[in-house]
Amino acid sequence: MNEDRSDALVLFGATGDLAHRKIFPAVQALIERGFDAPVIGVAKSGMSQEALAARVTDGIQRFGRPDARDALAKLLANLRYIDGDYRDPGTFAALRSALEGRRRPLFYLAIPPSLFATVIEGLDAVGLADGGRVVVEKPFGRDLASAKALNAVLRRAFDESSIFRIDHYLGKESVQNLLFFRFANAFLEPIWNRNYVDSVNVTMAETIGVEGRGRFYEEVGAIRDVVQNHLLQVVTHVAMDPPVGHSIDAIRDEKVRVLRSIRTVAGRSLVRGQYKGYRSEPGVSPDSTVETYAAMQLHLDSWRWADVPFLVRAGKRLAVAATEVLVQLKGTPRRVFAEAAVDAPNYLRFRLGPDRVSIAVGAWAKKPGVEVVGRDVELYVCNSGGDETSAYERLIGAALQGDQTLFAREDAVLEAWRILDPLTRMPTPVYEYEQGSWGPPEASRLDRPGRDWRPKADS
Ligand code: BG6
Repeated sequence: MNEDRSDALVLFGATGDLAHRKIFPAVQALIERGFDAPVIGVAKSGMSQEALAARVTDGIQRFGRPDARDALAKLLANLRYIDGDYRDPGTFAALRSALEGRRRPLFYLAIPPSLFATVIEGLDAVGLADGGRVVVEKPFGRDLASAKALNAVLRRAFDESSIFRIDHYLGKESVQNLLFFRFANAFLEPIWNRNYVDSVNVTMAETIGVEGRGRFYEEVGAIRDVVQNHLLQVVTHVAMDPPVGHSIDAIRDEKVRVLRSIRTVAGRSLVRGQYKGYRSEPGVSPDSTVETYAAMQLHLDSWRWADVPFLVRAGKRLAVAATEVLVQLKGTPRRVFAEAAVDAPNYLRFRLGPDRVSIAVGAWAKKPGVEVVGRDVELYVCNSGGDETSAYERLIGAALQGDQTLFAREDAVLEAWRILDPLTRMPTPVYEYEQGSWGPPEASRLDRPGRDWRPKADS
């Protein structure tokens, strides 16, 4: 880790939605924990410094910690706003004078991907890339070729050790807990392979729709929005080998090895869906074929996972809001209790949110009484409300310290695109589904017969 702490935070896209809901509240929390440095917002909005301060205050009242008044006051005292076009060299000249005397600013690019290159080149042109660090929001490119091009732009200005490709799933307590649980315990490892695991389901079900982000969503769709990044990251946490050593790259190396083992997805292993009514959302084309649901089967060509299907699924406006990993174990070799048995009663379930975080083991136990009949029970390893530390707080805090462990490395991002690249170009059907349903019925052909994923209710 680079122990050299950043001595300023510059937020491009300071008047945007992400800054409002997530980034400024996270900065307030970091200030509570001791971060004390200039925070400079940059945007082209025509807003005044006072108007930005009012917007930040509103965001903190709604999404931050309204009671932490001292931290809010300090944030507002440290806040500066530069209103300017990213194409105008004057904007970067103003930023350079605002950063006078700062050695290692952190530049956070919470802006549309089409502007990344302009801002990075603008920073470089005035010498601000020297010594600086850069956080890049997802989506990181649109496909393999554009991700490579974006990496080239970044690498011309910044060293890889100063580039932080953010994926907020990596900052989630629940996702970290999945890794911790796997490698802090010995009992899991012997069964964590093709000999005992039948299949793995990784599901991100949302009840919300595109929430006013129709224009953005039309450019991405579910595969680029959450599968290429969040869900493939979750898959790497489930499938990786134990890391060797404790360096920043130890975990990232193993995750990349998993991605390398995943076959490029063929069109027949994908089912895309679109919820009814999506085409009437603001900013959405009336004949859009963008998917709001995607289910795909992944195959890992590794000794550990050969022939174990990983079913990855994400959808909006579904019946439940739950992000979950279900590791289904194989059944017993013979049925001893004919009346009691189901084929494969054992599983491990990791609920990653949104409002519950739990790890549970599914088992089959005898129902009390004379008859030998079974019932399914769940043993909880942990079960709690949502994350307390926000993912953004954790990740921005790490980036300020130069710790890249929780950020996606260049090779991982490119491998993730390699897996999905043909799908981004191939015309595949998009099936309509009812809002509040489980997605298009066509997707069940990807799962084991009779094994459609349904979340268990946590209590
Ligand atoms: C974002 C996507 O990255 O993740 C959104 O752009 C999605 O479409 C969101 O709703 C889900 O994040 P979380 O933390 O609520 O699971």
